[in-house]
Amino acid sequence: MEVIILKNPSDVAQRGADLCVELIKKKPTAVLGLATGSTPLSLYEELVKRCERKEVSFKNVRTFNLDEYVGLEGSHPQSYRYYMDHNFFDKIDIEKANTFVPQGDAKNPVAVGFEYENQITKAGGIDLQILGIGRNGHIGFNEPSSSLSSRTRIKTLTETTIGDNKRFFRQGEFQPGLGITMGIGTIMEAKQILLLATGEQKTEAIKAAVEGPITAMCPASVLQMHRKVTAIIDEAAAEDLHSKPYYYWVLSQQQKIEKLYGR
Ligand code: PGA
Repeated sequence: MEVIILKNPSDVAQRGADLCVELIKKKPTAVLGLATGSTPLSLYEELVKRCERKEVSFKNVRTFNLDEYVGLEGSHPQSYRYYMDHNFFDKIDIEKANTFVPQGDAKNPVAVGFEYENQITKAGGIDLQILGIGRNGHIGFNEPSSSLSSRTRIKTLTETTIGDNKRFFRQGEFQPGLGITMGIGTIMEAKQILLLATGEQKTEAIKAAVEGPITAMCPASVLQMHRKVTAIIDEAAAEDLHSKPYYYWVLSQQQKIEKLYGR
């Protein structure tokens, strides 16, 4: 895993945007896997700015979001469809028909899971999957104990996740306890993965994901098995990493290697 430690969340967003733009320039029909939550918000803001400045176009890009709440329709302000439209899709030049989010209010969310897998396959697979990480190490809504080879399906959310996401719901408002999420096996099939984490509340999860044993109890730890993962994290999230000096050293060498031999 390539570990890039940067000063603050804004640097993380910039570097994440660089990676996305680089891919889209190389492949204008790229398929992006997208995440919600607070972490990628500044990445989306940065990409919107670059799109406005015509540095990148999403005209032929297709996107698949990781997850959605079961029971919320896309127009619900807490749904991930609403979040994506509001924070990203409505502000860039993407075709809305090319943006996919699992349908949370479908009559049969189990069937939605199977159909979502088919849609990803039909699109040719995901070129770059963006991931946040939960305090408990979850990726998407794949909570600890999720099968490391799971596919898109319904997951029961943990109390930690429900508690962490409470802040987005008004007092007394219905908060779903189920999500429909790409599986860990689905995520692992992405050609490239970008894991973003910022802030001290993620220190423990990042330590476990990057340097801990591979275990279903920290779903993000399975990323150690992926051939092309970049973890872009800020200093606060990197605080407990044992091999920090090595990651900085690797990065400096990487820059030299790229200068000499290209990417
Ligand atoms: P956050 O959520 O970005 O809001 O911290 C990350 C996640 O739960 O995957």
